[in-house]
Amino acid sequence: MRVPMIAGNWKMNTTVNEATALVNEMRPGLDEIDKVDKVICPPFISLAAVKELIKGSSIQLGAQNIYFKEKGAYTGEISPLMLADLCEFVIIGHSERRQYFNETGEIVNKKVRAALRVGLKPILCIGERLEENETGKTEEVVTKQLRSSLAGIKYPSDLVIAYEPVWAIGTGKAATGEQANETIGLIRRNIAKLYDKEIAENLRILYGGSVTTENIAEFVEQPEIGGALVGGASLKAAEFLSIVKQTSEIRVVREAQEA
Ligand code: PGA
Repeated sequence: MRVPMIAGNWKMNTTVNEATALVNEMRPGLDEIDKVDKVICPPFISLAAVKELIKGSSIQLGAQNIYFKEKGAYTGEISPLMLADLCEFVIIGHSERRQYFNETGEIVNKKVRAALRVGLKPILCIGERLEENETGKTEEVVTKQLRSSLAGIKYPSDLVIAYEPVWAIGTGKAATGEQANETIGLIRRNIAKLYDKEIAENLRILYGGSVTTENIAEFVEQPEIGGALVGGASLKAAEFLSIVKQTSEIRVVREAQEA
């Protein structure tokens, strides 16, 4: 059985002081919840401080982006080597990066390779835009993104995929559990074709896009969905805790059913 994952993507929110305050608020409650991998992804500038604060806890740390070169004259960029010391995960190919920073499939592919080279676990984001969804192109778009992101990459056992329909991100209009389950099933079948069936079965594929305390259960109850990548709701300690807690409870029920 796959261990579910809830990852909080804080995006460009929180100063260092705000980030430390938020972590201090979340840590005790989060640390108590088991059966779920709990990851928080604060801005780069807070990673070192947050790393100290979560030491000895079961909370894991992720970055929101990476550059694919290891060092050199790339003003303002953050290299894989710098992140490898600080965190375990890195979000790659988020739609906001594709949209506002022109990240192409080729760049995303280079970033996935760069992360894996230094032992960082990529949380690879893919998802269709509204007009693509409305014109029935979801399957085509998601398949293309998946293939270009992973082109030529020997299967990375540490990969996590997040299916995030762009129209659901930050809009309050989440996909339904069934919709997300269907597309995630399709992604899994593609992984089985690219690699093999067992690899596909073990892969965690998260849903992301307007996840809240009200709708999380609808997603994590679905058989294909391995957890969630949470934006807005991960910035409020009580909400994030509730999302993680519900995920853990559903997992306990499922374990009992399968025992
Ligand atoms: P949201 O963002 O939960 O605020 O919609 C999700 C994401 O972009 O990862």
